[in-house]
Amino acid sequence: MYPFNPIIHRLQAIDSTNREAFRLLETGSLKEGTVIVAESQSAGRGQGKTMWESAPGLNLTFSLLLRPVFLPPAQQFLLNQTIALGIRDCLSDKLFPERVSIKWPNDIYCKMGKVSGTLIENRIMGGTFDWCVAGIGINVNQEVFSSDAPNPLSIKNLTNRAYDLEEMLNNCLAAIGKWYGMLRNGQLRNIQKVYLEHLMGLNEKGRFKAGKETFAGTITGVDQYGRLQILDENQQNLTFDIKEVQFLL
Ligand code: BTN
Repeated sequence: MYPFNPIIHRLQAIDSTNREAFRLLETGSLKEGTVIVAESQSAGRGQGKTMWESAPGLNLTFSLLLRPVFLPPAQQFLLNQTIALGIRDCLSDKLFPERVSIKWPNDIYCKMGKVSGTLIENRIMGGTFDWCVAGIGINVNQEVFSSDAPNPLSIKNLTNRAYDLEEMLNNCLAAIGKWYGMLRNGQLRNIQKVYLEHLMGLNEKGRFKAGKETFAGTITGVDQYGRLQILDENQQNLTFDIKEVQFLL
């Protein structure tokens, strides 16, 4: 069923599972499907220069190593879409029925709270894909968040129940595996279509911040490089790279 065989390395404490993944890639031969899970991260990394807050033992923090050698590096945003769809499926189908959406580029939101974030770091060599390290944080059982990260929310906050982390990890890996299998089989249009179906704010008026400026506009899509497309109030089509624009909730 899996297009990769999960090989799970469990760590009690580490600085960051993504950093550990890259250290292991430097030193040994790893198989696609290797997963590094940590109970606690002392320097969990988020997108850009942000940190990822996760109380020890309460959430899922893991890095999945993939080897998408079949994917032209110019299409690497498909990996963001694939992983986001897998996590969205895992959280919405198995756990709670409320609408779970993808906030561009790959955050998973429910009821205006961020339940999961993903930091994808790719190693490309000589113009071809070598490794993709998909670092995934899912807020599962933590009830109080203290960092200034935007809108953190856990599944327990949403449902008032605690969840088994191991079972959830297996469910997430299976769901990601399903979408990764589609990517490998070339079902790119389907991935892009379903990603847009779940994209928060698509075709709805919203407010955005780019640099110091805020403006109103409508998300019209995501281009092949993963850049967000917004139609502003002057009917201008704008394109933004990751971290160039913020969607104000
Ligand atoms: C984001 O800012 O939304 C991305 C957060 C990614 C956090 C995960 S936790 C596991 C992996 N290891 C890290 O250091 N970061 C990612």
